[in-house]
Amino acid sequence: MALIPLNLLMRHDGRSARQRVTCRHRCADACAHPAPNTSDNEYFGDMVAEIGQALSRRSLLKAAGVTVLAAAAGPALAACSTATDTGQPARPAPSSVPPAPPGMNFTAVAPNSEDAVVIPEGYRQAVVIRWGDPVVPGAPQFDVRNQTAAAQRGQFGFNNDFAGLLPIPGAPDRYLMVVSHEYTTEQFMFPGYDADNPTREQVEIALAAHGLSVVEVERGPDGLTPVMGRYNRRLTADSPFELTGPAAGSEFVVTAADPSGRAVTGSLNNCAGGITPWGTVLCGEENFHIYFGAAEGSEAPSAEIAQRWKRYGIKVEPSGRRWEDFEPRFDLTATPNEVNRFGWIVELNPWDPQSTPVKHTAMGRFKHEAATIHVTADGTVVAYSGDDERFDYMYKFVSSRAVQPGRDPAAMAANMRILDEGTLYVAKLSSDIPADQIDGSGALPAAGAFRGSGTWIPLLRSGPDGRAESLVEGMSAQEVAVFTRLAADTAGATKMDRPEDFEANPATGKVYVALTNNTQRGAPDKPAADAANPRNDNKNGQILEITDDHAGTSFTWDLLLVCGDPAAADTYFGGFDKSKVSPISCPDNLAFDEFGNLWISTDGNALGSNDGLFAVALEGPNRGETRQFLTVPIGAETCGPTVSAELVTVCVQHPGEHDDSSLDNPLSRWPEGGNGTARPAVVAVWRPDGQIGV
Ligand code: FEO
Ligand code: CA
Ligand code: CA
Repeated sequence: MALIPLNLLMRHDGRSARQRVTCRHRCADACAHPAPNTSDNEYFGDMVAEIGQALSRRSLLKAAGVTVLAAAAGPALAACSTATDTGQPARPAPSSVPPAPPGMNFTAVAPNSEDAVVIPEGYRQAVVIRWGDPVVPGAPQFDVRNQTAAAQRGQFGFNNDFAGLLPIPGAPDRYLMVVSHEYTTEQFMFPGYDADNPTREQVEIALAAHGLSVVEVERGPDGLTPVMGRYNRRLTADSPFELTGPAAGSEFVVTAADPSGRAVTGSLNNCAGGITPWGTVLCGEENFHIYFGAAEGSEAPSAEIAQRWKRYGIKVEPSGRRWEDFEPRFDLTATPNEVNRFGWIVELNPWDPQSTPVKHTAMGRFKHEAATIHVTADGTVVAYSGDDERFDYMYKFVSSRAVQPGRDPAAMAANMRILDEGTLYVAKLSSDIPADQIDGSGALPAAGAFRGSGTWIPLLRSGPDGRAESLVEGMSAQEVAVFTRLAADTAGATKMDRPEDFEANPATGKVYVALTNNTQRGAPDKPAADAANPRNDNKNGQILEITDDHAGTSFTWDLLLVCGDPAAADTYFGGFDKSKVSPISCPDNLAFDEFGNLWISTDGNALGSNDGLFAVALEGPNRGETRQFLTVPIGAETCGPTVSAELVTVCVQHPGEHDDSSLDNPLSRWPEGGNGTARPAVVAVWRPDGQIGV
């Protein structure tokens, strides 16, 4: 395959591969606007076990985000692997690399800009399902030039982000695959798309391309094959969802169309997620603000609402998709409360195709990347969630109810209320490292590592039947639930470098957080580097390791990785020899294999290569060893990984997304190749002669 010039991959601001078109459609150019957290709370520079049990030999773990390698990876890459004549990396001489830990014994994939998924030698891959493939009975085959909303409502949605695989009891090799569809990029969906004049049909197709898909899949010699099973289901931006918890029915969420304040139409910007021990799926409504707009010259209904909207990046101006021109629920001035009905953690019971998914307001409202769960020995559920915005916060929710055993309807009903009752916390970090040793360069402090401690500050305590107590002075419980960012500002939470996915290690209980990047760190009038966010102009991100008192309020932390080019002085790989690792940039989603290795997918590689999926050793002499398992096609990000010893899956999101590209002028033809249309898709990777990485 021909190499595409690497400069095509550079970001519109010259920093990374992420393109302006991506930013416009996914987050409304958040990076081009001031970060909405202008609170003056101090930053500290101034001062699943239960899930693991489900990870049997054949069960598959949810993972996430990946990153890319530099074209000129230098000595680090050269030491890790060398390209063969076929472009595939060859395993280095045994003497140059310490033995790989179990699960990581594969040949590292080299950085590249192929229009292909590149995997290690000896492995196989196949597309599982693509945008437009039928999901429910009667859905037509995909026809990109004659697409209809009716067809899209039954077909796989656009821009898959999260994928969860749940084994179907009594059906060996069958799984429910639950996938989120984060956002639409209309110029890659419609021929001749005119962003200033979308048609009603285009808007309705886009609404139907959002949401979630539930698809039965069967494991076989060719990977995973979709099956038209009885659980198959599409949820869209027009499907019914139920609000539960303290904000449900409150003055902030009632609308003329829903005076109950409990019956929401649709879920939007469903990003990453997690599987619960009771067999449901959680998904974060992330950049929900981008779908709401108003006519030029409009104003917020009040100064107080204007302040709240500003903190969430909600702009009283025409939105990028112009949905407000077609449906008044998206018009901020016509329906000002509608935007408050998004930004929640959604829970879907995929085992009941008639069930109404729930939005849990006790878990707070912000730009949830995801929610992932750790269960303590007494059955307490701890759900971690990041607010993916520059200088925003890390949260956890600790349940007051224990998990009920079993999957019968009564147990499922009880468990689906667990995330309505408990305490919502936000994280405040500290460190004893002297301030003069944190200079924003990323140079290690004298102690040899970035580490410290922290406290979870309680914000909201929720009980049965929506009753709740605010723990933030000057705010009601309902206000804390709906305007959680403002509550966390008041509490003095620590401003982080875009918290993405959390994942608790099933083996150790330690919790890992992907902090993807923050190029405004250290900018004029912005918070400077601190021990947990140690680089100004942070292009490459870092991985935080938390040793948490899960149901308690204290923790300690370390930085496992300070990502980037291993040859650069500002990177750190857990103390491992940096000449023997794969470069990694912009970590996004996390997962664990059954050997206890952390898998990281990346989004927006600032080093000039395609995004990818990496395995990282956590314990012993290999701690910090980082090895790239795959890369995704040009213009794509890697997300939603699932990892088991037998199968890896990733979501390939927005292949070919580039500012100068469109459906009519494509950069990518993946997955079909030839004259094919670039289509987001889920990919399976396996080794036919044995187990992955063993
Ligand atoms: Fe949708 Fe924070 O990634
Ligand atoms: Ca993400
Ligand atoms: Ca992402």
